[in-house]
Amino acid sequence: MELDVKKYYTLLLRPVVIVTTVSAEGKVNAAPFSFNTPISFSPPLYGFSCNPKHDTWANIQETEEFVVNVAGYDLGGSLHILEQKFPRGVNELEKAGLKEMASKTVKPPRVEKAMAWIECKLHSSYEIGDHVWVVGEVCCVDVKDGCWKEVIDAGKALLHISGVFFAQEAKITKYERARK
Ligand SMILES: Cc1cc2nc3c(=O)[nH]c(=O)nc-3n(C[C@H](O)[C@H](O)[C@H](O)COP(=O)(O)O)c2cc1C
Repeated sequence: MELDVKKYYTLLLRPVVIVTTVSAEGKVNAAPFSFNTPISFSPPLYGFSCNPKHDTWANIQETEEFVVNVAGYDLGGSLHILEQKFPRGVNELEKAGLKEMASKTVKPPRVEKAMAWIECKLHSSYEIGDHVWVVGEVCCVDVKDGCWKEVIDAGKALLHISGVFFAQEAKITKYERARK
């Protein structure tokens, strides 16, 4: 079955993250993203693709920090609130009733309910297509107790397919690799 080329991304399951940022005045913002990936081992670089109109991007330009909160499927029911376009300065975490936790190395808070937290400082950004590719240098990483089973507990992870479609409850398996 041939798909519309614009639907290519629906063939790639993507981890859902909630990116938290703060404005210059220290107002917290949170929004879900799924166009995201690791980029480099050394230095450790992470990237996500952000619509340039989003408050997330405005905040990152102002304060150059963000936290990638890795979402488990228990956060799936909060996405419809987190993704709403509230006026700038409104804290979506409060709207969604989600608890914040202090980060270790950056000002934006962590989302307590997330499975893991990747604290980043802005490394670079690139206008590309209709988005901005935001690259963060990873400065601190934590995984929640109970969300690590030799690797991240994929059974609890939330993966975006497209629109309202998500995948969850993945099974962890091991395959032989040529290099160990
Ligand atoms: C599961 C999910 C994934 C999303 N992925 C992205 C994404 O990768 N890039 C993007 O620009 N917006 C994405 N969005 C939309 C933003 O989260 C949404 O527009 C949000 O209101 C932006 O908030 P902000 O203006 O507070 O930054 C996604 C929404 C959902 C629910």
